[in-house]
Amino acid sequence: MNAISVNNLCKNFNGVVAVKNVSFNVVEKEIFGFLGPNGAGKSTMVKILTSQLPASSGTARIFENDIARAGKIRSLVGIVPQELSLNEMLTAKQNIIFYGTLYSVPRKKIEEKAEELLSIMDLRHRKNDLVKNFSGGMKQRLNIILALLHNPKVLFLDEPTTGLDPQARRRIWEFIKDINEQGTTIFLTTHYMEEADHLCDRIAIIDEGKIIAMDTPFELKKKLRRESVVEIKIDYDDMLIKNIESVHGVKHASYANGTLKIIVKDRKGLLLDIMKNLSSRNIKSLSTLEPNLEDVFLALTGKRLRD
Ligand SMILES: Nc1ncnc2c1ncn2[C@@H]1O[C@H](COP(=O)(O)OP(=O)(O)OP(=O)(O)O)[C@@H](O)[C@H]1O
Ligand SMILES: [Mg+2]
Repeated sequence: MNAISVNNLCKNFNGVVAVKNVSFNVVEKEIFGFLGPNGAGKSTMVKILTSQLPASSGTARIFENDIARAGKIRSLVGIVPQELSLNEMLTAKQNIIFYGTLYSVPRKKIEEKAEELLSIMDLRHRKNDLVKNFSGGMKQRLNIILALLHNPKVLFLDEPTTGLDPQARRRIWEFIKDINEQGTTIFLTTHYMEEADHLCDRIAIIDEGKIIAMDTPFELKKKLRRESVVEIKIDYDDMLIKNIESVHGVKHASYANGTLKIIVKDRKGLLLDIMKNLSSRNIKSLSTLEPNLEDVFLALTGKRLRD
């Protein structure tokens, strides 16, 4: 059964088109990722699918329930918003009771669920501490607990690890996997390709409100596998990109942090041509890499996921 089904969904804000005719399905128990850069429309999509914002046109359903039925939708979905929504002056446990009550969860159920989730999220020993003394990762884990108190069937996470250090990020990934293994369907947004790659069964890559590719991480990368990525450490000059893009077989070139990154069609024949093209310049090193999801995005849009 589809946990989420979206058909020709559009959203505009007084002329700004945030979501452009998007359609996709998320199967029950899947971890589905919305991967895209700033302003791509990720949060707008989360808000529409969780009945916080009306769509301009098109339809969407959560387990066959139209998203217009706000009360029903709220009982089916858990939301971890992009902005943290904790009361810093309360303890973790007090935040949990406050939220559970807001969601009309009976007090006894809140207590039971709180203990279970505090254990899963490894926060049990800190439950009576004030949230203001928590690390970023702990706050985010508490946010996830709050979203799960009413036993939702689908958990929406809007950029759950933005701003966390790599270790805290990996812990959140493991917790998300645990929750998924217990049967919760996950919809998450991210602009970290490693996150999408590591966690998601399928990914929709979005840019400027449109889905530009949708598949498993493996298939998305496979499509690029006939292409390769060449990285060359070299000094920048104004003609560098223009010159290298004139080499036959070079699909895309970009420069950042002292490195020229080139996506090429057929590596073997090309390397020599590239070296010849750059021969008057000082090449410090050259390496070829397997494409990652960042490269998929770059090849599709000509842009980087991150600024
Ligand atoms: N309430 C609003 N009123 C007007 N424009 C809006 C509103 N909310 C979002 N937008 C616009 O819609 C577009 C998509 O915004 P959205 O917040 O969905 O992007 P995002 O992918 O979540 O970005 P980020 O990665 O920065 O969180 C942007 O151009 C944004 O300015
Ligand atoms: Mg957002």
